[in-house]
Amino acid sequence: MIDWKNRYADNIKDYQGYPLGKTLKYLSDPEIISLAGGLPSPEIFQTSELRAASEKILLNDVDKIMQYSAIPGEQSLFEAVIDFLKRDNIHLEKQNILITTSGQHGLDLAGRAFLDKGDIVLVDRPTFAGALVAFNMEKATFVGVDIEPDGTHVDGIETKIKQLQKNNKTPKFIYVVPDFQNPTGITMSLKKRKQLLKLSYAYDIPIVEDSPYRDLRYYGKDLPSLFSLDQELYNGGGNVIGLYTFSKIFCPGLRVGFNIGHPEVIKKMANIKEGNILNTPKYNQDLCTAYLTQMDFNAHLDKCRAYYKDKLAIFLETMEKYFPKESGVTWTTSEGGLFLWVSVPDHIDTAQLFFEAIKHKVAFVPGEQFYGENPEKNHMRINFSFASKEQLKEAVKRLSACIKSID
Ligand SMILES: Cc1ncc(COP(=O)(O)O)c(C=O)c1O
Repeated sequence: MIDWKNRYADNIKDYQGYPLGKTLKYLSDPEIISLAGGLPSPEIFQTSELRAASEKILLNDVDKIMQYSAIPGEQSLFEAVIDFLKRDNIHLEKQNILITTSGQHGLDLAGRAFLDKGDIVLVDRPTFAGALVAFNMEKATFVGVDIEPDGTHVDGIETKIKQLQKNNKTPKFIYVVPDFQNPTGITMSLKKRKQLLKLSYAYDIPIVEDSPYRDLRYYGKDLPSLFSLDQELYNGGGNVIGLYTFSKIFCPGLRVGFNIGHPEVIKKMANIKEGNILNTPKYNQDLCTAYLTQMDFNAHLDKCRAYYKDKLAIFLETMEKYFPKESGVTWTTSEGGLFLWVSVPDHIDTAQLFFEAIKHKVAFVPGEQFYGENPEKNHMRINFSFASKEQLKEAVKRLSACIKSID
């Protein structure tokens, strides 16, 4: 019998799997109300439109769908994406876009394109666990700064860059989720967006801007993406790589997204995709094209916003009721997206609390999974999009009872 443990590549030898996956495996009991996964609600899937588009595609194009197709993506989806981005003041050509097999694939391509073992990525504390996992495949080193209520602590990031420079180290890129960040729900202010871009140019460090939730704003004013600000303020831009996915605004089962950036970077990522998955399924791409061109996605997004806004309000109202000030429990209040960040008193470790919560038939993601280094233990990520309104209320009650039971 081969000793497999000693055969694995250095990069993944010690890798034990996505921590979030391990959390989710405890949730098979149907009585558990899960606020853990980042699932959009199936209630906003466009079931009948999807069926109609699907039927049309299968009737007319089955030969092409079942064949290999172009690695960078389908021409029709490129055109639709170009229009989709124009409404967000991003002006691109086909050479600036690579169709990906979802946001996680987009992150994987960014990691593979730029990171060697030990390379430094600057991140928020906390940040999206899936990005940490993807960049960890390349054995990245994370240097983080605590996120602030108005987004990335840009001054703190600059201090870190200066410290690293003293040791002759330059970070490979800065990774951020500026809109309704996963896991905190925090949005970066306009001032900080401009400041971050300035930093990127001053120190010549690219920014990877991950934007799955940009269209899910329920309160407040739209803010320009880093990508569009870069184009506008820096003569067409070039320092920002944008990652997008249709998972949260259409449906995650299709696994389609796109990366945008300088043609040079996009070409490199397309080359990696050649050795990685080849083409993204044409059928899935065609459904996304139908979503963008035939299904009135603006009306759909309005519906999603109203639906999730309601759930967010219910969740926050119930939190106010069951977690009075003296409970020591606090939480972020987001203007959009799918998540909130709940903090419990310092002495509670949410990784342990998770198992108590399971006994109370409620689940969340322990916050420690969202740190690139030195995890804080007293936070949890809460998803409010998937559970029904009634379940959300009940989940907060159960969470409150659970926290009281261990105090
Ligand atoms: C910030 C962020 N980036 C990327 C992804 C991955 O998206 P996808 O499901 O399309 O792979 C997610 C999913 O939750 C996310 O929150």
